[in-house]
Amino acid sequence: MEYTSIFDSHAHYDDAKFDEDRDELISSLPSKGIIGVINCGADLKSSAQSVKLSEKYDYIYAAVGVHPHEAKDFGDDTLNELRRLAANKKVVAIGEIGLDYYYDFSPREKQIEVFEKQLILAAELNLPVIIHNRDAHEDTLNILKKHRPKGVLHCFSGSAETAREIVKLGMFIGLGGAVTFKNAKKPLEVAATVPDEFLLIETDAPYMAPVPFRGKRCDSAMIPYTAEKIAEVRNTTAQEILNLTAENAKRLFGID
Ligand code: NI
Repeated sequence: MEYTSIFDSHAHYDDAKFDEDRDELISSLPSKGIIGVINCGADLKSSAQSVKLSEKYDYIYAAVGVHPHEAKDFGDDTLNELRRLAANKKVVAIGEIGLDYYYDFSPREKQIEVFEKQLILAAELNLPVIIHNRDAHEDTLNILKKHRPKGVLHCFSGSAETAREIVKLGMFIGLGGAVTFKNAKKPLEVAATVPDEFLLIETDAPYMAPVPFRGKRCDSAMIPYTAEKIAEVRNTTAQEILNLTAENAKRLFGID
């Protein structure tokens, strides 16, 4: 089955796992139905690389931001540097930003401080945010209620109930390869219940490859496996899911 209109709302093609064949792989994606990719930064270096990729490839757009893992290195100049990068017209979001209490690679107070600073930057620049949340549902929700950004909870791992709270805030839910995993009960409940207008699809490439590629290096061409699974629980077709999520991504990120 050949699919079209695949918009990958979250990938990391700057990752070292693509060093050997990055250009060849990225160049091949449009022939596999990919029409858009948001390449997300995780620190200043990868944010700058995201911008470079977006300048090189028409259909790649960049998000710039500092991931909670790297929050500990967020200094006085970091915000200015992000602001400078975000001035590029291919930068369509601030991300990925958020909280990660599973790994706790940065102290939690620092994660919260850096998350809020970047939410304020996004509001200043009128850009949506791409949010990473792992095992920090309560703090994430409270901070989002306070700042009310537009944006997406990427690789959403919460319950259907938390997803409803997020949608009430007008934010999107990003679903990826996890919906295809064995024991994917929670992600499938979320996949079945998110309203059409708030659903996005993503890879998180090179991570989170869907079954049957689980554990392998992931790229945007694997999205149809995720779309097929989501379509199954929503009683529709994978192509309909791809059309819908592409429209949603363009609307959220302001892409024509
Ligand atoms: Ni990511």
